[in-house]
Amino acid sequence: MRIPTTLGSAVLRLWNAKDKRELVIQGNDRAVWRNLLSGFPHPYTEDDAASWVDFASNCYPSIHLCIEVNGAVADGIGIIAGTGTEQKTGQLGYWLGRAYWGQGVATAAAQAMVAHADRSLPVVRLQAPVLAWNPASMRVLEKAGFYRESVLRKSVFKDGELIDSVMYVRVRDDT
Ligand SMILES: CC(C)(COP(=O)(O)OP(=O)(O)OC[C@H]1O[C@@H](n2cnc3c(N)ncnc32)[C@H](O)[C@@H]1OP(=O)(O)O)[C@@H](O)C(=O)NCCC(=O)NCCS
Repeated sequence: MRIPTTLGSAVLRLWNAKDKRELVIQGNDRAVWRNLLSGFPHPYTEDDAASWVDFASNCYPSIHLCIEVNGAVADGIGIIAGTGTEQKTGQLGYWLGRAYWGQGVATAAAQAMVAHADRSLPVVRLQAPVLAWNPASMRVLEKAGFYRESVLRKSVFKDGELIDSVMYVRVRDDT
């Protein structure tokens, strides 16, 4: 699988074992960890990278892809599929190594992933919870067609602080 993006240099592709080294280098960054929910470890070790590549390669009906920029691992984006009564809901998440911030990569990746979901996944509602201190990610979601649905007050305890998260949503039938 190889999904192009509007940024010519960036594509979404399946993870493979060769990506582990870059995952550790980029993932072992407090500034990345601080903006992600639990499940993303810190420090980020080689074992974490190996487990991730194994998991991401066998996670159907969820989907997790590597964001590649100019042939290099820039990092990842995925949609966690809901189950049971939430089977039509998917949760979008993404992160980039710090060297790739501020170049439109996350926006292009999110737009491409949303288009892929529309084409190929059974989800109708895509949602993305964003920590209140992360306006860059809110902007990425707005540019990918999401709107601010609700504020989940004091829902996240992260980095020693109890903070709000903001739920961003895109409902396919609305578009
Ligand atoms: C958040 C993150 C994904 C953004 O990636 P990126 O490739 O730098 O994002 P883009 O360049 O596509 O777009 C960022 C947008 O946010 C805006 N932005 C950046 N900092 C901002 C701030 N402090 N306040 C408001 N907007 C901000 C940029 O101006 C840009 O919008 P514009 O194109 O309209 O000018 C990246 O910083 C990251 O991986 N952070 C750590 C992990 C994370 O936060 N993941 C998301 C969890 S919900």
